[in-house]
This record gives sequence, C-alpha cells and structure tokens, in this order.
Amino acid sequence: MPVPVIGGSTCRPFTGHCKSFEIKGVVMGSAPATGSQNIQSTLQEDRLFPPSEAFAAQANIDSEDKYLAMWERAKDDPVGFWGELACDNLTWSKDFDRVMEGDMPETKWFLGGKLNASAQCLDRHLTTWRKNKAAIIWEGEPGDVRVLTYLDLHREVCKFANVLKRLGVTKGDRVTLYMPMIPELAIAMLACARIGATHSIIFGGFSADAVAERNNDAQAKLIVTADGGWRRGKEVMLKRAVDESLAKSPTVEKVVVVRRTGDLHTKMEPDRDYWWHDLMEDVTADCEPTAVDSEHPLFILYTSGSTGKPKGVLHSTAGYMLGAMMTTKWVFDLKDEDTYWCTADIGWVTGHSYVVYGPLANGATTLMYEGAPNWPDEGRFWDLIEKYRVNVFYTAPTAIRAFIKWGDEWPAKYDLSSLRLLGSVGEPINPEAWMWYHNVIGKERCPIVDTWWQTETGGIMISPLPGVTATKPGSCTKPLPGVVPDIVNEQGESLGPNEGGLLVMKQPWPSMLRTLYGDHERFIETYFSKIPGCYFAGDGARRDEDGYYWVMGRVDDVLNVAGHRLSTMEVESALVSHKAVAEAAVVGFPHEVKGEGICCFVTLKQNTGTQALKDELKAHVRKQIGPIATPDEIRFAVAVPKTRSGKIMRRLLRDIAAGRETLGDTTTLEDYSVLANLRKEDEG
Ligand code: WTA
Repeated sequence: MPVPVIGGSTCRPFTGHCKSFEIKGVVMGSAPATGSQNIQSTLQEDRLFPPSEAFAAQANIDSEDKYLAMWERAKDDPVGFWGELACDNLTWSKDFDRVMEGDMPETKWFLGGKLNASAQCLDRHLTTWRKNKAAIIWEGEPGDVRVLTYLDLHREVCKFANVLKRLGVTKGDRVTLYMPMIPELAIAMLACARIGATHSIIFGGFSADAVAERNNDAQAKLIVTADGGWRRGKEVMLKRAVDESLAKSPTVEKVVVVRRTGDLHTKMEPDRDYWWHDLMEDVTADCEPTAVDSEHPLFILYTSGSTGKPKGVLHSTAGYMLGAMMTTKWVFDLKDEDTYWCTADIGWVTGHSYVVYGPLANGATTLMYEGAPNWPDEGRFWDLIEKYRVNVFYTAPTAIRAFIKWGDEWPAKYDLSSLRLLGSVGEPINPEAWMWYHNVIGKERCPIVDTWWQTETGGIMISPLPGVTATKPGSCTKPLPGVVPDIVNEQGESLGPNEGGLLVMKQPWPSMLRTLYGDHERFIETYFSKIPGCYFAGDGARRDEDGYYWVMGRVDDVLNVAGHRLSTMEVESALVSHKAVAEAAVVGFPHEVKGEGICCFVTLKQNTGTQALKDELKAHVRKQIGPIATPDEIRFAVAVPKTRSGKIMRRLLRDIAAGRETLGDTTTLEDYSVLANLRKEDEG
C-alpha cells in the first residue's frame, strides 16, 4: 500500500510548545540553598558498556547513524515516519487517509483506517511458515506446561470470541478480565479485540472492592475469571472475590469461569455464571475479525494515583499496536528464532505490551509463567531460562534486588548461556543492581536495556537500542525514534546538562493514552496542565552531557533537605552499593532545621543489623554523595512496602517516618504485614 497523502493530509506538523531558553546560571551542585525548584543530582557514574561488535552486527537497528537518521526524521517529519511504519507493519482492512490530526493532547492517528488487533497478532501469521510456530509457551506454577502455536491460539481466540458474542457482548462493550497468568487470559484479551469489545484487565492480586470499583467505572458488562490461580503454592481465590464484587457491580450481567485450580467450593450462580470449558464446547472456530476504526478503544487499564480513585487509562487500536510492535522489535532486537520472556503479569501494562500484543504482532514465541519467582525455590526463574533456552529476558528492578538478596548460588546452578539480551522496567534501577544483572545473569555478555515508560505511554519511550547504545548503569539512555523528551523547570524552560527537572514529552506519539475513561477533564488536568503544551506524567530526571536520560523517580518523592531537592532513588542507590544492603527505601520527614531530614529504611542481605552498621551506612552515603545527603536516621526493616507491581511505596513510609497515621489509599499495597511490622518496630 502506498504511503497515504502526506502533503495533502490535514495533519498539522508538530511545532513544539515547550519554551526553550538558554541555560543561565544554575548548574548542578551550585543550586542556591533555598528557592531552587530544580532537582539536584548527586549520582556519580561513569562506567560505559558499548555493545559488542558481534551483537551490533546482527541487530535490527545496527548503527548509531541509522538510529540518528530515524530519530531526526521522526522528529521533523512525524507524518512521513509514522505513516510509512503503519503501512509497512500493520495489516489494514481499510487504508487510512490521514496519519495524524490535532495537537496534544487531542492528537488522533491513522484516521479513516480500519483494522483489528487480534488479526494483527494472529491471522496474518497463518499464511506464513509461522502458522505452526509456538506463539505462547506457558508454564503453571505447579509445573504443568502448555504450548499454543499461532494456529492453536487463533482457533481458541475465534471460539472464545464466539462465546462472548453468544453472551451478548458487542462492539464497544467493556469486559473485565480478572485472571491468573494462564493462556486463557491472552485468549480472552484477543477475543475481546476480535469483536471490538474493550478489555479492562484487573491484576489477580486486587481485592473484591478494587474489582467492583473498576467494574463500575468501566461499566463492564461481563467478567472473565478463574476459580483460582497458583501463587507460592497457595490458591488465590479469584472467583470468590468476583462473587463479592458483584454485589456492588450492577452493570455486570455474566461471568465466565476458567477451571484452573479445581477449587471445589466454587459457587456457580445459574444464568449468570458459566464454565469456560462448557461454553467452548458448542461454538465454532469461525469468527471473522471485526474491522474497527484506528482510534477504537482497545483497552482500559486502571493505574493508581497516590490519592483518589484509580485512573482508567484508555488506549487506541492502531496507534497502540504500532507502538507495541515497533518498540518490541527495536528494543528487544527480536528475531524469529528467539524465545522471549517478559516476567510481568499481564495485569500490568508491561504484560499487555510485552507479553501479549508486542511479541505476538511480531510473530514471536512468548513465554508465560503463572507463579512466583521463589517457588518451589529461589531458582525457579533460572530453571525456566535453562529449560526453554530463553534468549531475551525482561524483568523489574524489584525482582533483581530480590535475586541479589537470595544469593548468587541460585543462578549459578543453571545454564543461562542461551541469554543474549536483558531488560529492566518499572523503577529506576540502582547502578549496583544493574552491575549484578550484567555480571551474574548476563555474564558480561548481554546488553541491558533499561526501558523507561508508563501505562500512559503504551510502549517504551526511552531505552538503549541494544546494537547501538553504549549503556551506563542506572540510565535509560536515549529516546526512541518518535519520542521527543525534554527536561524542564516548573516554568517549562529547558534545563541544561545535568540539571534535574521535570521529564516531559514535547511531541505526540501514536501509542499515547487517549483519555482517562469517563473523565477527559482529569486526563487534561493530570498530564497536560502542569507544563502547557507538553505531556508530563510525574517523573523527575536529568540529561547528562552525552544526552543520556537519568530518571530520578516520581517528583512527589523528591526530598527537600535544606533547600536541596534530592532524589530518594539516588540516596537509595548509594545505600544499595554497600555490600550488606539488599534494598533501601528513603523518605523525608519534618525536620526543624533542615526542613526535611532523611530517613532510610534498609533491608539487609543477612539480618545482622547493629548500631555500628547504622553508623557505617551513614558514613557510606556521606562519602558516596556528600554531606548534604547524610542520613539522619537508618532503620533496619525485614521488607519495605511495595505496590502490587513491585514499586517501593514511599508515601506510606513517609507517614511512618513522621510518626503519622497512614491517611492515603493503601489498596495498592502488596503485603499489609510489611506495614504492620514497620509500625511495630516503630513502637518497639
Ligand atoms: C517508573 C511501567 C526509571 C517511572 C511500564 C514511571 C521507571 C512509572 C522506569 C510508570 C525506568 C518505569 N527507569 N523509572 N526504566 N520504568 N519507571 O505505569 O516513575 O507501572 O513514571 O508503567 O514507573 O509505571 P507504570
């Protein structure tokens, strides 16, 4: 298909709105003691890891020149750049006639076109040799295994799409998926997409109340769930939570239940609840994909703010699919012969984009694992890598810090030589955790892609290209083609090298969120009002003299010590670089003299916390960063509170450090006992 009318398109080429000013005065380290709004970076890191020649030679993007040419083209001619990619990579039922239209935040993409996301992931592979290639290799926590080829997956998706139709689901309806990590979850997602229904996946660890709140916000018509799922040898009772949620979810008419654990106490309400396997028995495997408009909502995914009700991030079909597909290919350097494993739960955006949509759109083999990394023992992930000869492995800093705590003897027992590329996502990665990943898992051989992005961005935004970028531990390096970030101060003025400020996007990109479901005003207010004309989603960062980005964490978490705005993550990284420390969470607390004092919650590799070690850690941070960052208080903790997706929840620790009751929302907390223990220690 030819590139659609570029010159004649009604798209307004983006001109950029963020004010760019000459950098005057303030440079890193010389911020005035008060009044500076900029975030001061204290991290010293000058290690550099260029890709090996061998890796670069085989990479999908194999030279700096190519990357730069792509990046410049995408910035100056987004219509041509994205238009061509959309023509070459997406399969259209009807060609689009305009590449983009409207300024941020109202930019629309590929207008006039029609397509189907499930056909993009399945049907188009069936006419190729990939028909009988493994699409999903799945292993349950108890060790059961299933392999679905593209043809198998297509058949199951078509059948379940027919089931949904039979239960009255039509194009535009919302369907909640509250399931364990089993193939039926991917099947249900693609089946929704096939008939133009919008899925809303709720992570299986959420409570009945959280399910009800999300059902109501999305006005979901149907829920797909399972009797339960396996997690650390225990059954997570999903259907029981659904039953409880339904008392408060008036819009939900039907429930489909996968039998996973065989929970004998599962109650089935006649005319409301149906077993998946019963329904699948009497439908055909013929279901034409419904061609939907490019901007048709593919899914809603709820993401929690620190306060207030969860935000229903809504993604489009064409823009999202193109973003997921291209970033998977570029960043993970995906090849047809790869076995690719992203460890994220599909309940998070990482699972949406990099377990399901991105890999399948590329015709890859994606590994799915149901359970915990430490079941039946701490070697489970390495066992999976050895067993399936995983080539590309993508996980989170929280998991990496846990592996470090569990000890090098676990990975040492397994053959990890199949690995060729490693990835990280979810939080800034502490440089020492990065080094461990590089040495112990990658055996100094595998490039690491530290990928910065968000639920809202749909796909990876800032990341190394593994065949091109020389990596620096702790930096997500450079923007991908089509991504035009900047670091600005509160007035929207561009900051100079190494000045910490707000990370913003100055140009729209196809996979950006389109709205917050049912609350377009909150969408504009949350992301587009702080820095007019730019997208801002809450992170602080700096850009170094080589143009590398260093994300310093959420701006809500920034410390203000005697007028110096410091990144909690950088103080944590200093602590983690001490040999006794496995993990650290740093927060501020009210301090009479300094405004804010620094309180550090520290988890040790071995539980041998002493006063002498506390003093040593204070001195260590002082030496690493400088006197300004000297901790006022060190507290040893068995664990730090985290969100269900593994991010350190500093908000709750701030309350503990200040001796306050926790006022904020705690429903996203993963393990309540962690909080209770910290309080007990506090009282004790
Ligand atoms: C943080 C996950 C530093 C960041 C895909 C962002 C990161 C938030 C990185 C989004 C990274 C994610 N380096 N920080 N590589 N990746 N973050 O919506 O604060 O669950 O704003 O999306 O995680 O989290 P979300």
